[in-house]
Amino acid sequence: MLLGFVWLSASIILSAVGVRGHRIRRQDQNQCPPFNNGTIVIDSYQLYPENADFDLNQCLLYFGALFNASVVVYDPYRAETVSTIELPGITRTKPFHVGGVAWDPYTNLITILADSSIPHETDDHEILGDDFLIRYDPAKNEIVWSLNLTEVSQGQYGGNQDVEHDSHGHIYVLGTYPGSILRAEADGSSIKPWYLPDVIDHTNYGITGFAATGDILLASDGKNNSGSGEIYRFNMTADKGTPVLVPKVPDEAIMSLDAVYLPPKYGGKVLLVSEHDRGVSVLRSADGKWESAEYLGRITDDPNFADGGFNTATVEVSGSIYAVDEWFSDPIVAGTSAGNRTKFPLVDITSQVEALLG
Ligand SMILES: *[C@@H]1O[C@H](CO)[C@@H](O)[C@H](O)[C@H]1NC(C)=O
Ligand SMILES: *[C@@H]1O[C@H](CO)[C@@H](O)[C@H](O)[C@H]1NC(C)=O
Ligand SMILES: *[C@@H]1O[C@H](CO)[C@@H](O)[C@H](O)[C@H]1NC(C)=O
Ligand SMILES: *[C@@H]1O[C@H](CO)[C@@H](O)[C@H](O)[C@H]1NC(C)=O
Ligand SMILES: *[C@@H]1O[C@H](CO)[C@@H](O)[C@H](O)[C@H]1NC(C)=O
Ligand SMILES: *[C@@H]1O[C@H](CO)[C@@H](O)[C@H](O)[C@H]1NC(C)=O
Repeated sequence: MLLGFVWLSASIILSAVGVRGHRIRRQDQNQCPPFNNGTIVIDSYQLYPENADFDLNQCLLYFGALFNASVVVYDPYRAETVSTIELPGITRTKPFHVGGVAWDPYTNLITILADSSIPHETDDHEILGDDFLIRYDPAKNEIVWSLNLTEVSQGQYGGNQDVEHDSHGHIYVLGTYPGSILRAEADGSSIKPWYLPDVIDHTNYGITGFAATGDILLASDGKNNSGSGEIYRFNMTADKGTPVLVPKVPDEAIMSLDAVYLPPKYGGKVLLVSEHDRGVSVLRSADGKWESAEYLGRITDDPNFADGGFNTATVEVSGSIYAVDEWFSDPIVAGTSAGNRTKFPLVDITSQVEALLG
């Protein structure tokens, strides 16, 4: 299942500005300096970020650049791109997107999901093209291992778009058509289905995003667009994943779902749910067990919506919580993979979240 030699190295394009050495690794995580700069604008041609994560070890932001299928490493404190990770055979190659990107707090490695765009862009979510799960070592600037997910799914299900980690070294991959979760061993030696629905029907739009706290994995489920989605809980210490409904109180609708996120500052007790054109719903579990969730409200005042943006994810940068927005329908610049946009605002929603928490 390990891929051939082309996967053994990633080519790193260091940007003209901001070339510098790595920060000293910190033993004590969560020690990044507070960041209170309000809404910031990332200046990066064709970034089109679908997903983002903040590496609390290096104090750097990782963006999955959807259409280029690259990963941009950004220093928010210096407001500059540190490097762009280009994946041989994937970056700027037609069928590929980079959907999920996540810092693994247990190993300080970065997990990257390169997925086929076809299930996301066809009406019946056709499962075509290959998806790859990639483990990347930011200290060595190299790919540690990479797995071809089609070898597991056999093209029966797909639309992979998110990744998570547990304390035992497992890496989880979420697919949407229909909802599925694969689980890989730490060393990349194997990957198996961990959760599959009873009926494998790729027309069914299932789970869309996940977030982990301790041994609890939370996932949003689009319920095939049937009015309102739901949040499910999985126990990551189990050999197989079993979804358990997390009832929302009150049971407000959540829809056009994408990523979900547990901002580190709330210790796994607050879940942000990205709803493409509706904003960010805020849910809370006061004891952090997620047996049920208080639905606290939805943040709707994202100025990017007026400019055709969609909220696809949220990310905390050392105290500040941001909405990450995507522009799906910008015309592709001829001869390239993406639209012509160069400015990507991260909208500061910290005070709106705080207001809903009361
Ligand atoms: C995307 O690719 C174009 C080349 O087609 C390049 O100029 C641009 O910098 C890339 N952007 C990102 C975020 O990878
Ligand atoms: C953040 O705000 C401080 C204080 O206003 C300013 O000096 C700094 O340049 C800002 N940094 C970024 C990355 O915008
Ligand atoms: C990925 O695996 C599938 C199924 O085995 C295979 O058809 C495809 O060629 C593989 N892709 C690559 C790039 O090796
Ligand atoms: C999901 O919804 C689509 C229409 O939006 C429908 O064609 C399809 O049959 C549904 N799939 C399932 C499994 O209900
Ligand atoms: C999770 O699963 C483990 C092992 O299967 C079990 O011991 C534990 O009680 C479960 N936790 C919860 C909260 O159900
Ligand atoms: C970007 O593309 C849009 C739509 O094609 C066009 O209206 C706009 O003028 C372009 N902007 C630049 C700076 O080329």
